[in-house]
Amino acid sequence: MEIIIQPNADAASALAARHLARVIRGKPDAVIGLATGSTPLRLYAELIRLHRNEGLDFSGVTTFNLDEYLGLAPDHVASYHRFMWEHLFDHINVDRQRVHIPTGLLTGEDVPAYCQRYEDDIRGAGGIDVQVLGIGSDGHIGFNEPGSSLASRTRIKTLTRRTREDNAQYFESAAEVPHHVITMGIGTIMEARTALLLAFGESKAAAVAGAVEGPVTASNPASVLQMHPVTKVFLDEDAGSQLGRRDYYHWVFDNKPTWQRD
Ligand code: PGA
Repeated sequence: MEIIIQPNADAASALAARHLARVIRGKPDAVIGLATGSTPLRLYAELIRLHRNEGLDFSGVTTFNLDEYLGLAPDHVASYHRFMWEHLFDHINVDRQRVHIPTGLLTGEDVPAYCQRYEDDIRGAGGIDVQVLGIGSDGHIGFNEPGSSLASRTRIKTLTRRTREDNAQYFESAAEVPHHVITMGIGTIMEARTALLLAFGESKAAAVAGAVEGPVTASNPASVLQMHPVTKVFLDEDAGSQLGRRDYYHWVFDNKPTWQRD
């Protein structure tokens, strides 16, 4: 894992955006995995800026989102469909046909076939080149809550009380937060060629420390990224504050040979 600690979330997000822009410029039909929540907002704002000011072209890019709440229509104020269009897709030249977000409108018996199709679509697109990830305060990636199988595929999951509390701010009342979601599995995420994990703020510090320096365990799903060949972790100082090897990560980043910089 490459641990990149920046003074603030803006600087960390700008670096992550630069990495994505380089991938897309080098491979105009790249397949990008996207995340929702407060964490990627600055990253998406920077991608929009790069599109407007520097001609970053998304017309050939295919996207797959990590997850969606079950029971929410795409136009629901807290749905991840709505989030993605409001915060990214409406502002770049992405081809609507190449956008994939799990549907929230499934009845029970349709779920397994739908999830299999989502997996097939990812594979059919050639696999995910770069997956953007946030991390839950409980260590989840996507909505793979603690205890999720490290080999899991896209499926239905039940949210923990903590995640429902963390996400209540996006709903009119806490009771409205759905209990169930569709999420890419940890095995699905692990097949992405590169993973970019972003985390900002004190509330993520313990989960980040566990993920980066703790044991690989389903109790902190993000820790599985220690087994991923190319993971970059973009943090602000607060999210990195519980890392024991913080000084080392800073040194490595500051002394990277020019040919390794992106
Ligand atoms: P957040 O959520 O970006 O809203 O903090 C991250 C996550 O739950 O993965």
